[in-house]
Amino acid sequence: MAVTVTTFKKAKEEGRKLTMLTAYDYSTAKLIDGAGIDSILVGDSLGNVMLGYENTVPVTMEDMIHHGAAVSRGAKNALVVIDMPFMSYQTGKYDALVNAGRLMKEGGANAVKLEGGVEIKDTIKAIVDAGIPVCAHIGLTPQSINAFGGFKVQGKTEAAAKKLLEDAYAVQEAGAFAVVLEAVPAKLATLVTKKLDIPTIGIGAGNETDGQVLVYADMLGMFSDFVPKFVKRFANVGDVMTEAFKAYKDEVESGAFPAEKNTYAIEDDVIEKLY
Ligand code: KIV
Repeated sequence: MAVTVTTFKKAKEEGRKLTMLTAYDYSTAKLIDGAGIDSILVGDSLGNVMLGYENTVPVTMEDMIHHGAAVSRGAKNALVVIDMPFMSYQTGKYDALVNAGRLMKEGGANAVKLEGGVEIKDTIKAIVDAGIPVCAHIGLTPQSINAFGGFKVQGKTEAAAKKLLEDAYAVQEAGAFAVVLEAVPAKLATLVTKKLDIPTIGIGAGNETDGQVLVYADMLGMFSDFVPKFVKRFANVGDVMTEAFKAYKDEVESGAFPAEKNTYAIEDDVIEKLY
């Protein structure tokens, strides 16, 4: 059964934990979808993981559409959420609507995700009013890395915790169907989760949120440039890949690969005439 925003609402009401993983390509999306994960996020973390940028700031609409469309082709049941990249919505409601529309029409998204709380409330409302489901994202919002001065836990002081709660209420009021809480103290995430009617999806926010999201390359041990404290490696696929690449190099160099079974045959009398 295809997952929809209604599934998210029902999951919160029933106390069923929601699962979300990022993906940036068709094959990975197919595997995640086949594993029964509720939602695939085409995160702008593709800037780090796929494109080798230091942060998500350089990611473009064209990048998100290109990768989003590939993921959408691989996801049959999971709800596909595509990130709106830096400066595709901060410049005003008109830009936000045009770009959210492109992610739906050209990227095949079921919903879009925007970073920010109170300050983008009206933008979220405009997108939702246009019939596009919005997943909000508060706490550590990586597109604002230059304003934050680094990847830091958010909401630790009384004022910062109060602001996070205000942001959570603002995005809910604007019509977001869910909100990602990134890098916030677990007890604060628990409080936000209890206060909100919409599901909270945590990343570095403890285990009392309504769901969890991780970057797939982090949880598979495929990306090691930067491994945040909140990442758990569920497999060491990076090591498996390195071993396979080395075995391939060895077999090509020794002549063991390709073997007979990997080779196409031709009748001897055909080839002999050409010598
Ligand atoms: O871009 C991304 O992968 C994200 C998740 C970390 C939530 O926004």
